[in-house]
Amino acid sequence: MSKVYLITGAATGLGRAVALKLAEQGHRLSLVDYNEKDGQATAEGAKKLGAEVIFVKADVSNEEDVKNYVAQTVKAFGTIDYFHNNAGIMIPFRLLHEYSSEEYDRLMNINVKGAFLGIKYVIPVMIENNGGTIINTVSSNSFKPTAFNGVYAASKHALAGLTKSIGQDYQDLNIFAVGVAPNTMQTNISAAASTTYTEVIGAGIAASTGPNIPATAEEIADVVIFAMNRAKTLNGSTVNCAGGQIYN
Ligand SMILES: NC(=O)c1ccc[n+]([C@@H]2O[C@H](COP(=O)([O-])OP(=O)(O)OC[C@H]3O[C@@H](n4cnc5c(N)ncnc54)[C@H](O)[C@@H]3O)[C@@H](O)[C@H]2O)c1
Repeated sequence: MSKVYLITGAATGLGRAVALKLAEQGHRLSLVDYNEKDGQATAEGAKKLGAEVIFVKADVSNEEDVKNYVAQTVKAFGTIDYFHNNAGIMIPFRLLHEYSSEEYDRLMNINVKGAFLGIKYVIPVMIENNGGTIINTVSSNSFKPTAFNGVYAASKHALAGLTKSIGQDYQDLNIFAVGVAPNTMQTNISAAASTTYTEVIGAGIAASTGPNIPATAEEIADVVIFAMNRAKTLNGSTVNCAGGQIYN
């Protein structure tokens, strides 16, 4: 049966891959991103696959934008069954003391506050719906920081924490949450981080990551959809897509 899926960060990378796979299954999709051009392209691709789709331009760190994307989704489709809380950014690789407070605020406002605002405004719709599922895109950096990536790692630890709280606090309301943690996923997100890349930084990242098999966005999208379908059982946990990296 066709369900309603709300996906943030749907313009490129993982959000786009999830949207296109769900479109193939004939679901109703509300796609959100601040990148309007690529977001509209994802929406067009999903429509061609037969899905009913809306695209809502929004900055997930802006509370009014979040209220609007939730309202537009409910207006178009009546409810929200699944929320893929996925939009995120990286900032240039640095040691912690080298980050400016502006860089810290920008990343935390998108990766943590943006995810929180999505949760805050989607959950009341799910309560009204007698249930729903939230998939937060966390990271291997939710378990262990890679080198020169401390603020990003802190943001993904925080999002894993929000996932656990939803799992604990909403199970009686039939609302479940799962974190999906890519490790090395082939998307453009690290382009912004790589502006400070040096051999020393590269060696530090390689040493702190360890050997692992990179995944495509499509492969991680399959895990996201699996987590959506098994959220009751996985509730509150994070699915580790480490590709062989071992965390002690
Ligand atoms: N690529 C990796 O190796 C990797 C590893 C672990 C976790 N992740 C996480 O996966 C998620 C998806 O990233 P991706 O790798 O597909 O990269 P991506 O850059 O292709 O996708 C991120 C999307 O989020 C959107 N976005 C960013 N800030 C936004 C904002 N303020 N408002 C609205 N939209 C915004 C971007 O426009 C983009 O479409 C992110 O949360 C990222 O942290 C990625």
